[in-house]
Amino acid sequence: MNSKDADKRYVWHPYTQMRDYSSWDNRVIVQGDGFYLVDGDGNRYLDGIASMWCNVWGHGPNEVVVAMQDQLSRLQHSTLFGLANEPAAFLAEKLVNMAKGMDRVFYTDNGSSSIEVALKMALQYWHNRGKIRKEFVSLERGYHGDTLGAMSVGYIEQFFGAYKPILKKVHQLPSPLLHGSGFDNQDELVESCLEKAEKTLKKLDGRCAAFVMESGAQIAGGVVIYPDGFQHKISELCRKYDVLLILDEIATGFGRLGNMVEYLAQKSRPDIVCFSKALTAGYFPLAATLTHDRIYREFLGNYSDNKQLYHGHTFTGHPVGCAAAIANLQLYEKRNLMQQIKQNSQYLKKRLTEFEKFGIVADIRHKGLLAGIELEKDGKPLINVKHERINYFVYKESLKRGVHLRTLGNILVLIPPLAVGKEDLEKMVDVYLELTAKLQKL
Ligand SMILES: Cc1ncc(COP(=O)(O)O)c(C=O)c1O
Repeated sequence: MNSKDADKRYVWHPYTQMRDYSSWDNRVIVQGDGFYLVDGDGNRYLDGIASMWCNVWGHGPNEVVVAMQDQLSRLQHSTLFGLANEPAAFLAEKLVNMAKGMDRVFYTDNGSSSIEVALKMALQYWHNRGKIRKEFVSLERGYHGDTLGAMSVGYIEQFFGAYKPILKKVHQLPSPLLHGSGFDNQDELVESCLEKAEKTLKKLDGRCAAFVMESGAQIAGGVVIYPDGFQHKISELCRKYDVLLILDEIATGFGRLGNMVEYLAQKSRPDIVCFSKALTAGYFPLAATLTHDRIYREFLGNYSDNKQLYHGHTFTGHPVGCAAAIANLQLYEKRNLMQQIKQNSQYLKKRLTEFEKFGIVADIRHKGLLAGIELEKDGKPLINVKHERINYFVYKESLKRGVHLRTLGNILVLIPPLAVGKEDLEKMVDVYLELTAKLQKL
């Protein structure tokens, strides 16, 4: 197989305007080398988006890869329908030990599906108890994936407007983002958000199945870092109004914000929590929906009661993915990754102040190894430069400089692989600084 012969025309890329994409010399990645991706011509690109926010250790052989190879040589796949497999059983125990308050693990193979499972679990939990609860509450700017239920709870008009006819209407509450909110300080904003949340939960008394939100921060909807106490208070409100809390920790779990399990750091008590992305270091598609025994018990009964959870995928709990996750989580401990993340986060915080000098930088948001730099011109989001979308501009210009970066609309986001070294992190920040200076002049 020679990458020069690979015909790129047939690949339809996600979230990509293919007219632009195919008109430019796009790259075919053939190999990984540390934190770099290497294309067929030998060009190297620093993985500035952690291969869609999931990469931990970079690319190339390591203990996780060895564990996967070992698993492949013993058992490649066997179904979880009726049978367990060894890595799935071990991993479930490991996850339950980490995720305090959770007792059971349901596997899927991507984040969106783990959200679908969470929504179905919530609906059926009430159903099995003989109650009809059809409503869901979520936050504006939330993103939970691209399947139907996930799009409904993470509804973003620009992304999902065309699919509205098959989506469910969900009650969306304001997200606690200070910039552009009209509030002068965060406390007032949080108070207002919580007031609205309480009002909605009260209004939906006895009808709301679950409150769904990302844990710690919203990423795809614009890098919104929750103010201290916000998630805790939402969690308390859910208890008060007897509504299940579903936390989406798909992008923030396992260290992105500097905490291994974000909901514990946020002092919140979910009923259902979803993990994916960094779970396998990004080496295998795997996700997990965890819940506690109070929910699980409501699914037990005779077959004739029809209480079982009707969900399952062919590759649910894939042994190679579970083996990757076990080795990955062991490596976190062995290499003391959380400490390294904290140090790099401090460094990043310092470097981000260098963006303040640009007139087009309207807000800078950061926590752990997540940063968002919001660009505006004349008080409006800076979406286009010279008839070109800013995300396409940044994509092209960053690749020219040997880094793969991707914006979220007018927000420059930095989401490096979690174990990135200081020098590579420095390079990512330097390229963003250079591109911001260029954008300011255009
Ligand atoms: C918070 C959050 N939830 C869900 C998803 C969907 O996960 P997947 O792309 O694996 O379906 C994502 C993906 O970016 C995410 O960031």
